[in-house]
Amino acid sequence: MLKKKEKDLVKRCFLDGKVVFLTGAGISLESGIPTFRGKGGLWERYDPDTYATIEGLASVLRRTPRKFVRFVEEFYEALLQAKPNPAHLALAALEKSGIMSGVITQNIDNLHQRAGCRTVVELHGNAFRVRCQRCATGIPLEAQRIREMVSLLGKNAHSYRSLLSIFARYCPRCGVALSGAAGNCAGRFRIDVVFFGEMLPEQEVARAYALIDRCRTLAVVGSSLVVYPAASLPLYAKQRGARVIEINAEPSALSAQIDYSFTGKAGVILPEILDVLKIAG
Ligand code: OAD
Repeated sequence: MLKKKEKDLVKRCFLDGKVVFLTGAGISLESGIPTFRGKGGLWERYDPDTYATIEGLASVLRRTPRKFVRFVEEFYEALLQAKPNPAHLALAALEKSGIMSGVITQNIDNLHQRAGCRTVVELHGNAFRVRCQRCATGIPLEAQRIREMVSLLGKNAHSYRSLLSIFARYCPRCGVALSGAAGNCAGRFRIDVVFFGEMLPEQEVARAYALIDRCRTLAVVGSSLVVYPAASLPLYAKQRGARVIEINAEPSALSAQIDYSFTGKAGVILPEILDVLKIAG
């Protein structure tokens, strides 16, 4: 339950609109997707220096294809089963009511879009999309095709060469039919997620700054705020004169520099915020 002073703060922060959200893995935990750094998080079981880099993953694929396939299966299992939870739905309701002007997310799970959010800035890409490495054309990779691909990978986990040919089928060359309109430059498609050491998509970063430039409140939900450049956005918002609040199960790396921290689960606190604002979820 929000305290009286928290309810007053919610009214002050939200009722004058121009609220932007920055979300991290914590908002999707209640949808069944593990976070990265928490207990049971992905990086507890897989070393990010290997599994979050292109070079590391390529080496696991070449040397120990079965381990590679196990990682892909685990990675997609939760993503394929997840559905938007009350926190994602609350953001969609805040956008519909005109209070939220957009959500900037570090998540790749597509759940904000599935909840109905329209302005979603994806800093780290989207696991349900492939992108041409030459012309950057992005194409959706539907859940059904991912299921097919993961199942084929599982059946061929013993053979590096078979795995490569499966990837070639699901990530063909640009201009070779996949689904929807593709470019035509013959570049190779790859999963449209940002790995460690890679640049963030320039256009998305520009959209994130533009949203923050116009916001009065930046609300961070479910992020440890340890991964840059995303973690620099709350500090940028403060420099621009915005209030910065966070909703997190635990303190984040920047809690001390944030105006107010709501402590608890996003799927509980965000619906309570809707109640205070008298917005239907
Ligand atoms: P982390 O796993 O680092 O942090 C998750 C945060 O969510 C923690 O601060 C938790 O306290 C909080 N949390 C957990 N359950 C929650 C709940 N129910 N409600 C609210 N908060 C909750 O995830 P991110 O900060 O998103 O990057 O990680 C940032 C980036 O690091 C990811 O995008 C990914 C990762 O490596 C790339 O892969 C490039």
